[in-house]
Parts: sequence; C-alpha cells; structure tokens
Amino acid sequence: MKKLEQLYEGKAKKVFATDDPNVVIVSYKDDATAFNGEKKGTILGKGAINNKMTNNLMQRLEQAGVPTHFLEQLSDRETAVKKVTIVPLEVIVRNISAGSFAKRYGVEEGIPFSQPTFELSYKNDDLGDPLLNDSHALALGLATREELDLIRSYALKINELLKGFMKEIGIDLVDFKLEFGKTADGTIVLADEISPDTCRLWDENTHEKLDKDRFRRDMGGAEEAYEEVMRRLMGDR
Ligand code: TMP
Repeated sequence: MKKLEQLYEGKAKKVFATDDPNVVIVSYKDDATAFNGEKKGTILGKGAINNKMTNNLMQRLEQAGVPTHFLEQLSDRETAVKKVTIVPLEVIVRNISAGSFAKRYGVEEGIPFSQPTFELSYKNDDLGDPLLNDSHALALGLATREELDLIRSYALKINELLKGFMKEIGIDLVDFKLEFGKTADGTIVLADEISPDTCRLWDENTHEKLDKDRFRRDMGGAEEAYEEVMRRLMGDR
C-alpha cells in the first residue's frame, strides 16, 4: 500500500490517501488541545501510545462483534483504516459523574451511576459541539433513525466491553467519546480513536486520573499517565 497526499489534518491526527480508494492512513500526533482548541500543548509520546492503544482495543472489540475501521498498524504512529465518512456526532457514554456532566447538572465528580448514560453532541467546532438529542440529529439530517439506533446499541455494547478490559488492568472507565463512520457501502463502523485523549480513566484504588484531564486541568504528569495505561494494557502490570 502506498501513502499518497494528505487529505485532512485534525487536532490530534492527520489522514492520508493511499493507492486503494477504500483505505486511508491515520497518523497520530503528539499535539494536545482542549476546550475546542483554545488550549494547545504537547504530550510527548502520546501519538504512538494512542495509535497502539486504539488498535489493541479496536481489535478486541471486532472480535466481540463490533465492526470497526481498523485494518493494519503500519508503524508506531500510523495505521491503515477503512475510508469512511464520519457521522458528525460525538457519542458519549458515562458510568461515573465527571467533566461536563458534573458541571451541567451541578453534581460532584465521582458518583457512580446505576446505569450508563448515553448522549450525543453535534460534531461542529464552530458551534462548540452542542449537545443534541435524536430528534435534533434527525431534523438536521445527521443520521437516519436506523443509524441512530445502531450507534446507540454499539456504544452501549462497547461500554460493557471496554469497562471489562479496563477493570482487568485496575482502571475504572468513567466516561468516553466515540465517533462512527460510514463505509462506501453504507455500513456503520466504529472510527476515530479510543485512548486517554477520549476516555476518562481512573485507577480503581487510588482514583488517580490516567487521562487527558491531567493536561486539561494543568495537573502535570500527562506523559506518565498515558505510559502507565499503555504499560498495563500491554500486560506488564
Ligand atoms: P465531557 O465530560 O467534557 O463532556 O467529556 C466526556 C468524555 O468525552 C471524556 O472522556 C472526554 C471525551 N471528550 C473527547 O474525546 N473530545 C472532546 O472534545 C470532549 C469535550 C470530550
């Protein structure tokens, strides 16, 4: 497979065309942003960690019956994935109160829920990714009823699987964000990434934050936290 021109550069990844029209190459950067790009920085080594962690988790999700865009890891930072059109929705599942949930509803962080919450945001940086419900997504033509139903069932299944994978390595999965894409034949697959950039991960005993909140909140130790999750995931606990 030949890497061709850059198609897109996002906040944390670049996407390149290949000589196969159905395949693109994702290249993970060390750049970190928060608050819709207002805060910018670098988390050294993050690109390689997020690439490997995403691929590890997506392969395990595939095996459990969740279709994903993953094809083949090419190098530390680069992976071949199915070319998809991203459904412009940020799909967020929460198990424990934190972040914008805690702020919006005026509750403390760290309260476990009796069942997970499911929410959608409109993936639109100019608007600041506003929260929306199914009827809004349908009115805006962002997805069909069938696609929304499928995305919700995949997201809740992914939550159960990821919670289990994280529990095995002593981590509580607090919340996370997913993005789905549509392949050329219209199949909905899990896309984007699953990493400490897109999940809140707390050590189950110390409740130490092992995710991007260390960067968002200027806590320090982001590099070490990403490395720690990677180390545990790769079976070296
Ligand atoms: P929130 O509490 O800020 O809404 O974030 C919920 C989860 O989504 C958290 O695990 C971080 C992740 N997330 C992203 O991946 N990208 C984003 O742009 C935002 C705001 C959150």
